[in-house]
Amino acid sequence: MCGIVAYLGRKAAQPILIEGLKRLEYRGYDSAGIALLRNGGIFVKKTSGRIGALEQILDKAGNADVLGIGHTRWATHGEPNTINAHPHVDYTGKIAVVHNGIVENYSTLKTWLRSEGVAFVSQTDTEVIAHLIGYLYHHHDEAGAYGGQNRFEWAVQQALQKLHGTFGLAIVCSDFPDVLIGAKRGSPLILGVGEGEYILASDAAAIVEHTTRAIYLSDNEMVTVGPDGFYTKTINNVVVTKDLKEIEFSLDQIELGGFEHHMLKEIFEQPDSLSTCMGGRLDRQCGKIKLGGIADYLRELTQARHIIFAACGTAFHAGLVGEFLLEHLARVPAETEYASEFRYRNPIIGEGTLVIAISQSGETADTLAAVEQAKERGATVLGIVNVVGSTIARTTDAGIYLHVGPEIGVASTKAFTAQVAVLSMLAIELGRRRHISSDDAARYIDELARIPEKIGAILDQSDHIREIAAANIDKENWLFLGRGFNYPVALEGALKLKEISYIHAEGLPAAEMKHGPIALIADGMPAVFLATAGPQYDKIIGNIEEVRARGGRIIVVATEGNDEIRERADHLITIPDAPELFQPMLTAIPLQLLAYHAAVLRGHDVDKPRNLAKSVTVE
Ligand code: G6P
Repeated sequence: MCGIVAYLGRKAAQPILIEGLKRLEYRGYDSAGIALLRNGGIFVKKTSGRIGALEQILDKAGNADVLGIGHTRWATHGEPNTINAHPHVDYTGKIAVVHNGIVENYSTLKTWLRSEGVAFVSQTDTEVIAHLIGYLYHHHDEAGAYGGQNRFEWAVQQALQKLHGTFGLAIVCSDFPDVLIGAKRGSPLILGVGEGEYILASDAAAIVEHTTRAIYLSDNEMVTVGPDGFYTKTINNVVVTKDLKEIEFSLDQIELGGFEHHMLKEIFEQPDSLSTCMGGRLDRQCGKIKLGGIADYLRELTQARHIIFAACGTAFHAGLVGEFLLEHLARVPAETEYASEFRYRNPIIGEGTLVIAISQSGETADTLAAVEQAKERGATVLGIVNVVGSTIARTTDAGIYLHVGPEIGVASTKAFTAQVAVLSMLAIELGRRRHISSDDAARYIDELARIPEKIGAILDQSDHIREIAAANIDKENWLFLGRGFNYPVALEGALKLKEISYIHAEGLPAAEMKHGPIALIADGMPAVFLATAGPQYDKIIGNIEEVRARGGRIIVVATEGNDEIRERADHLITIPDAPELFQPMLTAIPLQLLAYHAAVLRGHDVDKPRNLAKSVTVE
């Protein structure tokens, strides 16, 4: 949530900050700003709206400055106007900060600072951080000695020790025109280390253009970058040594590459992304799956009595598919929990319980909190994560990376199919160790390996799906219905449509329709049925007829070659034949395309949907 970028080097900071903010815009885009250090002062430009609006008000003089901080915001405290936009400058005019996260005790701190005569101008929690650092900086002699450290760093440490809540911060002080400080608790922060230049950012996407070498800060750590390099400490002033890591993706992976939107690019990447995700892991000859990241935990997984998936949003839907897969192939009881609920419950985590967090970004605050809660209760916690080196990837005991490259579109697509692919692999491997024969495992692996090549036939129907979206574009309420393995996909289809087209949609297990939602059906309301070949096909045909009889508009996703269903459907989309348990990786794709085309037809900004953010790093 929100994007932070800061630069210190020999080049002009302003264009680098703007370019970096554009790369981070998918994380938040309601207001933006930068602060540059110049001639002993801090120059701030900020505005409501997108980075494009910020560019309009930039000052050419900024092109000579070599130190600056920037921010693109997703509002938590205070409406997204210019005053509330970051950076925030303290009352002495010396300190500027950009912040991701939430200061939970901001109102107590604000009251105290006010009593000390500090005037506030915004409604943000972040302004408290700027004033607090400024106040401590100003009163350092009274506050105590700062033995050998520079006063700026001391003030930052003292302030951060008083903050409750989460932060990813970039901070500058006009008295130190060649020092940049970053600090982290709960929100990601990475320092890109180039040749004589440093880019501090909340996301590697803003760094890769300049360098692929980086350090990843852990919670309660800070980095001070100065003319002689950088050093890392805890916010309690204990020196920590961090290894330089290689950022594992390249610039072309985060560019549009001829597509109109990142979401469309990512939908079309799925044959490749799924092949990469599974490639090297499927051993068809031996009927085994190699999951190197969790090799040390396979025994524990095999003996598990209970597996809990914790996730949010689209990842939650992947978890539901995973639950069915584990039950079916490995006969292990599994359940999927919303991480936001799990973290506040009193979950039963006994001997043999394993928790698996699923997260594209690896930064979702609720999922991270669920991981921490499960660890506190003594569970082994594994992760299924896309972003390498992300907080969840580092906090879990071990994990499986998706390896699908960066996902920029706010609405998750290729991460979903890869999460399901990873869960399929896990279920086959555990199944082989617990329940099914090696021959059966080998057959499943063969079928799984063929999924990526089947996706092309679905992508070829993109124009046809666009026509279906166009024919129903005036409808404000949609239903998505599936059974068995396709029930979570129905939930995901409805979520996709809501997220980017702002059309109200509900996803349901098809049989539940009769317990209420059927009352909604009238006047050509679109109902999208996942009626692919499988054991419940006849049942879903019954559900289609029930909706048809009540005047619903029937959109069907069926298996290729099913001619019988044509007469029951107003619109038909087909997928290649595949075993029911692997169909979610296919049936999700037409629903992604349907949502995409509906959003474009309605004129929405697909990659930056209203009110959403790619990674929800606040509770
Ligand atoms: C946000 C995104 C969703 C995503 C969810 C969970 O809501 O907009 O696309 O599914 O967060 O994110 P995660 O990174 O944990 O998978």
